[in-house]
Amino acid sequence: MALQARIAEAITQAGGWIGFDRFMAMALYEPGLGYYARSSPKFGAMPQSGSDFVTAPELSPLFGRALAAQVAQALEATGTHEVWEFGAGSGALAQQLLEALGERVRRYVIVDLSGSLRARQQERLAPWGDRVQWVAALPARIEGVVLGNEVLDAMPVQLLARHGGQAGGVWHERGVALHGGAFAWADRPTALRPPVEIEGPHDYLTEIHPQAQAFVRTLADRLARGAVLLLDYGFGESEYYHPQRHMGTVMCHRGHAADSNPLADVGEKDVTAHVDFTGIALAAQEAGLQVLGYTTQAHFLYNCGLGPLLEQAGPAERAAAAKLVLEHEMGELFKVIALGAGPAWEPLGFARGDRSHRL
Ligand SMILES: C[S@@+](CC[C@H](N)C(=O)[O-])C[C@H]1O[C@@H](n2cnc3c(N)ncnc32)[C@H](O)[C@@H]1O
Repeated sequence: MALQARIAEAITQAGGWIGFDRFMAMALYEPGLGYYARSSPKFGAMPQSGSDFVTAPELSPLFGRALAAQVAQALEATGTHEVWEFGAGSGALAQQLLEALGERVRRYVIVDLSGSLRARQQERLAPWGDRVQWVAALPARIEGVVLGNEVLDAMPVQLLARHGGQAGGVWHERGVALHGGAFAWADRPTALRPPVEIEGPHDYLTEIHPQAQAFVRTLADRLARGAVLLLDYGFGESEYYHPQRHMGTVMCHRGHAADSNPLADVGEKDVTAHVDFTGIALAAQEAGLQVLGYTTQAHFLYNCGLGPLLEQAGPAERAAAAKLVLEHEMGELFKVIALGAGPAWEPLGFARGDRSHRL
């Protein structure tokens, strides 16, 4: 209730309306109250654990072991010795990478908005002592391999709604107002547009991602030497802004069930939007990074040696890890993009099946 009251107050103070990006930011990150600020379990394989959704490193340690091959090559190719992980969740991926990479990682730095998750990470990663460090603000200069698994999808988005068709339709920004004390959608005319023209005579709802793009620009600004690997669900812009995807991609996750109403049970569930990887690639390039590769999670993990790891695994571990690469699970919807600062090199994770040309 306290979170709802806080958001209601923000709406009133703003004159009766806030953009969805502000609403999502408060629902997820409002200090002490937002979904990621609270100490609920969040990640896990089954709802019985009290968790809401599963991520790749929670599903199987083979995810981190395969990714380690790419991180090792990136450290070598860029002559760097640090890993910087954004949004490290329960610390599972950090543990998998530290175990697999050993002394090759001199320092593992974690940047997370969530104080409660930081406490969980500190407990889990205690065996590595002060090789693992947490920072609240980014330094002016970073050298190393930057990682973010399912971080971009947790960044607040703005909603755009077109009423009417391509010809003569009017674009609005969809935000949140109060109606009888409850949250309600409210649209306002806007000059904002999706990055591509949407064909068709129908109403259309979608998202734009200025915060995720600003995040990539900040990385480009700080990364003096090294590489960035971002893994998440999403597509290139022709698929993202396809005329048939007229309901947008905002989703909520709670107890391993998904729903599409972020205005209900605020703070009790995760709120996400898919990633527009074309927007990420363009923001990176404009800020001086090179796109070194873009592919599906399945291609990426097989290129990183998941095949032999699966062969060595027992039946239960193999069944869990298979979800990382199966087309109808995480294999096709999840993508990986690699960005580089400094001279170009060929990342092994994109050797087969690179789709950079489709961005
Ligand atoms: C869906 S969780 C993913 C957690 C973990 N990477 C995993 O795969 O299990 C999203 C995480 O991103 C963090 N996050 C979101 N925006 C962030 C930002 N700008 N900087 C650092 N962490 C961020 C959240 O606090 C949360 O820990």
